[in-house]
Amino acid sequence: MKSTRLDKYLADAGLGTRSEVKNLLKKRFVLVNGSPCVRPEQKITSDDEITCQGRLVRKKTFSYYMLNKPAGVISATEDSRDRTVLDLLQEQGIPTNGLFPVGRLDKDTEGLLLITDDGALAHHLLSPRRHVNKTYFARIDGEATVCDIEAFSAGLDIGDRKKTLPARLEILSPGPVSEVHLTVQEGRFHQVKRMFLAQRKKVLYLKRISMGKLSLDPDLLPGRARPLTEEEVSLLRPEIVSPV
Ligand code: URA
Repeated sequence: MKSTRLDKYLADAGLGTRSEVKNLLKKRFVLVNGSPCVRPEQKITSDDEITCQGRLVRKKTFSYYMLNKPAGVISATEDSRDRTVLDLLQEQGIPTNGLFPVGRLDKDTEGLLLITDDGALAHHLLSPRRHVNKTYFARIDGEATVCDIEAFSAGLDIGDRKKTLPARLEILSPGPVSEVHLTVQEGRFHQVKRMFLAQRKKVLYLKRISMGKLSLDPDLLPGRARPLTEEEVSLLRPEIVSPV
């Protein structure tokens, strides 16, 4: 990540000449990440938020990546045994400082995983109170039926204190091995697999295809990550309301 001297950054941002900026620093008017900074030579990066007399000079910028998670890697930041989703980003040359996966996919689950350093957005997406849809493609050992659609929509007892929230099951192809889309609004441990098990069916293959309004890029190969576009980030933000 590129770093710059604080006095140069402030002067380039139009806060005055280098010596005027030094004066602002001396007066403790400049806060870096909420603390006064008096050293003109202090190095700053896009990870730092800077204010001067309460006015925002530089907003911290966050990083957002979409990963097409392959089977066999774990949704963790580090692990002594298994390859992690952050290892995949590093192998692509992406710096992973401060990054973490938003929620978890099981080791054998594939598909859309958001990786970011934006804790507030992650909290929004994962909070069960926010009811953010997560849609999965699944291949099921057994015939998916209208009874399953009804049971999923009523909420299932999967052995937790509470029943699952209503979920939408769409049968794409029925048969001894069925293909379905399932949309849930929670992220309980092994949730999709346990929901099908409650209906006495086993998940053979599971892939997440969307989270909120963000869909997995069909051109993104398994194991590859790419930065989200600004438009994709805004799709995930709660406060952005589309113009009518
Ligand atoms: N539900 C599961 O059972 N596994 C996942 O990885 C995600 C949802």
